[in-house]
Amino acid sequence: MPTYIVLLGPPGVGKGTQARILAEKTGLKHVSSGDLFRENLKNQTELGQLAKSYMDKGELVPDDVTINMIKARISQPDCEAGAILDGFPRTPAQADALEVMLKDFNGAVNTVPFITAAEEILVERAGGRWTCRAQGHIYHEKFNPPKQVGVCDIDGSEVYQRDDDKVEMVAKRIRVYIEQTMPLVEYYRGAGVLAEIDGAQAVDNVTQSLLSALDKSSKAK
Ligand code: AP5
Ligand code: MG
Repeated sequence: MPTYIVLLGPPGVGKGTQARILAEKTGLKHVSSGDLFRENLKNQTELGQLAKSYMDKGELVPDDVTINMIKARISQPDCEAGAILDGFPRTPAQADALEVMLKDFNGAVNTVPFITAAEEILVERAGGRWTCRAQGHIYHEKFNPPKQVGVCDIDGSEVYQRDDDKVEMVAKRIRVYIEQTMPLVEYYRGAGVLAEIDGAQAVDNVTQSLLSALDKSSKAK
């Protein structure tokens, strides 16, 4: 049976950072809705243009296009063993749609690590983030700077600041998260798959907490 892990948590808490590490450790594919939208934008697709009009305002892209995009991605052969979902689902309608689509793959959401940190930490992390243009590798000017200023360590491409990482935009994204995504905490707690993770810790310690949560949930099955 395929394994699906949903990383739940506010903007800037470290979902993308941890998803990349977990993907390496587990062999599961990292599927980030935000990265997929940014990739579409880079490739100047219609979906990319549509997503940008919402992302620039810190609002969520409509459920139907987001659900279709994720469905197409996790149907690819490289997700046969499952996936680490980062940033999806983000609304109850997306969570319902995910449940239905995973049934088609004979799977279900196995574990939902819910990563949290205080708002000032989120603003500091998102505000200092640098993202690699080619593949979305994640850096932070203070906590994890690239070896050479402005250049990705892994693929040598330019690193840039996301438009939606300005302080006022991060605050808006946090509000949207509280209103539209927080209901999923109770949804997944009720399903018995939620694992609370202290995201204020250093990157390595968050990874350790995540790995022990995944281990615990696989033993409980
Ligand atoms: P998305 O790209 O998903 O952004 P987000 O959820 O707001 O989350 P972030 O990517 O900002 O943060 P993160 O938790 O991944 O943190 P990261 O690891 O980078 O979505 C962007 C937009 O796309 C949305 O606003 C919406 O418009 C649209 N969208 C996406 N999904 C959607 C959906 N399902 N439905 C509708 N619309 C959707 O880390 C942040 C920084 O902190 C980095 O600099 C990192 O180096 C640093 N850091 C990480 N961990 C630590 C640590 N432990 N200690 C110190 N620094 C750390
Ligand atoms: Mg991210």
